[in-house]
Amino acid sequence: MLSKIIEKALNEQIRIEAESSQVYLAMASWAETQGFEGVALFMYKHSDEERMHMLKLAKFVNERGGHAVVSALVAPPVSFGSFKEMFQTLFDHEVMVSSRINDLVDITLNQKDYATHNFLQWYVSEQIEEEALARNILDKINLIGDDKGGLYLFDNDVKLLAETSTDLNI
Ligand code: FEO
Repeated sequence: MLSKIIEKALNEQIRIEAESSQVYLAMASWAETQGFEGVALFMYKHSDEERMHMLKLAKFVNERGGHAVVSALVAPPVSFGSFKEMFQTLFDHEVMVSSRINDLVDITLNQKDYATHNFLQWYVSEQIEEEALARNILDKINLIGDDKGGLYLFDNDVKLLAETSTDLNI
């Protein structure tokens, strides 16, 4: 059985994952309108991944006798400036999510809720992969800068990455 403190903290993480899904969906849509098919596909998949993160938490909360709450979400931006800025935003967002997961892990230890602590280890590993991938892409786009040819090749690379991966782990 979840304590009220843990239930509230997990529900807050459910909101964060749902908001992440919305942010990446907005990025996908923006990239698509810019004609960057690969980046758009990557972001649509990323948005799906975040929804999966959210659902996994929601099911856990309900299984343990809590109530997963679907809350109101802040609307994400409509446009993202440049691809460089967009991937920087993505990276910063993932760093923020990692920090929230760490806070959550901390709360479970304080509350001696070892079952939830164990469950959260999946998110700890996932965040390591997500941050590494986001940093990798950011490094690439920083090298390319605003070079149109480079961006075209980058879009193709990202498309391949999105198409070949069944689980992007991002
Ligand atoms: Fe669910 Fe990208 O963190």
